[in-house]
Amino acid sequence: MSRTCLTIVLAAGEGTRMRSSRAKVLHEVAGRSLVGHVLEAAGEAGTDKVALVVGRDAELVTSEAGRITPGTRTFEQTERRGTAHAVLAAREAIGEGYDDILVLFGDTPLLTRETMQRARAELASGAAVCVVGFETQNPTGYGRLLMAGSDLLAIREEKDASDDERRVRLCNSGVMAIDGRHALRLLDRIGNANAKGEFYLTDIVELARNEHLNVRVVLADEIETLGVNTRGDLAHVEHLWQQRRRTEMMAGGVTLRAPETVFFSFDTAIEADVVVEPNVVFGLGVRVASGATIHAFSHVEGALVGADASIGPFARLRPGTTIARKGRVGNFVETKNVALGEGAKVNHLTYLGDASIGARTNVGAGTITCNFDGHNKFRTEIGENAFIGSNSSLVAPLTIGNGAYVGSGSVVTEDVPVDALAIGRARQVVKLGRGREIEERNAALKASRSKPV
Ligand code: UD1
Ligand code: MG
Repeated sequence: MSRTCLTIVLAAGEGTRMRSSRAKVLHEVAGRSLVGHVLEAAGEAGTDKVALVVGRDAELVTSEAGRITPGTRTFEQTERRGTAHAVLAAREAIGEGYDDILVLFGDTPLLTRETMQRARAELASGAAVCVVGFETQNPTGYGRLLMAGSDLLAIREEKDASDDERRVRLCNSGVMAIDGRHALRLLDRIGNANAKGEFYLTDIVELARNEHLNVRVVLADEIETLGVNTRGDLAHVEHLWQQRRRTEMMAGGVTLRAPETVFFSFDTAIEADVVVEPNVVFGLGVRVASGATIHAFSHVEGALVGADASIGPFARLRPGTTIARKGRVGNFVETKNVALGEGAKVNHLTYLGDASIGARTNVGAGTITCNFDGHNKFRTEIGENAFIGSNSSLVAPLTIGNGAYVGSGSVVTEDVPVDALAIGRARQVVKLGRGREIEERNAALKASRSKPV
């Protein structure tokens, strides 16, 4: 029988050290808010209901949480009086009666589902409280886990700790799982007689032990417990997140030639046997199918890249781009809202916006879809097996039929029927001998200017 779980996410942090006009938990790692990462993992760990405790920017934080976990309830903690006080802001939700109460911090985006599940598993096997701890070389600032053998006796906050206790390197991550039958009773007993005058959630350990309840610790990697307080922390956590995802990608069969130079978004999905060359950035909403290659220095966002396609080097795929199987997008090409057909090629120096290009069509170097009149966007539809000569301007709205041919350097303003040839450029004029005359005239001019007067 699976146990029900209420997850309480504390997100009332001031975040003043971020020096930001936004709440701390709304800052992003890999394109997703800090609190979004926490909620995503909590969902995967089997959360039934989320209670979010917010302070500043309550509305924005609430809407972000609701977007990721619909049905999230928010509780405002108007006065910051400690972690137990914050948890009790969600008293009403706790009172609904869940088997497990999982307490998380909204600013620790690297915490994994597995760790949450291990803490919950301890409750399932009889613990009343389970604390997630970690070992660190730098325990300063953390609550210390005071152990007797494998028994957790108490958590001592830095400010209340003796010198001996401060030497302890086993610390409290802040993540805690509490049996729902005991949660409210224990939380209500927590007082604030400590150095900070705050209601410490950590005091629940001693209170539970006094009732002869079972208290346990599970250990997590220090990385998982990192909280973000500054822009420096944000960059560090981003770095660690990227490292983790690169490892996962490679384990999933993706070749990364220089993993440390490739950046993913939280939702980047890449199939096995894709090759990603150095210095590639994946923005939000990208899927890449098996056998595709993303060449160096490409920026890909909101795009579906089909099997065996080839992108870049130096390509920019913008949102709404779909590249069919074996499609090719080469260097200095930008696409936006474009469907490139199977085997179609757009290899050099081109902008395609609001366009569809049929299978096997070739778009020559320097082609531009003129899709915008300053106010409105228009579409360009190009059929299959067409050929767009280099340096053409395709003025939308425009339809170019299957098998049609556009002469190089054309400005195409009218539809081109199936199999037709369109040329829209000035006719070439050749004047024999005139080249030499111009050359001589220019040389004479220069000589006359350099004479002393
Ligand atoms: C807390 C733990 C400490 C642990 C550390 C891990 C307590 C008493 N201490 O200490 O054992 O090692 O986290 O990082 O629990 N919050 C609120 N409202 C409040 C107070 C805090 O929402 O009134 C939220 C904060 O936004 C933050 C989290 O709770 O997300 C932790 O609060 P913080 O003040 O950072 O606690 P620490 O002193 O770091
Ligand atoms: Mg803290």
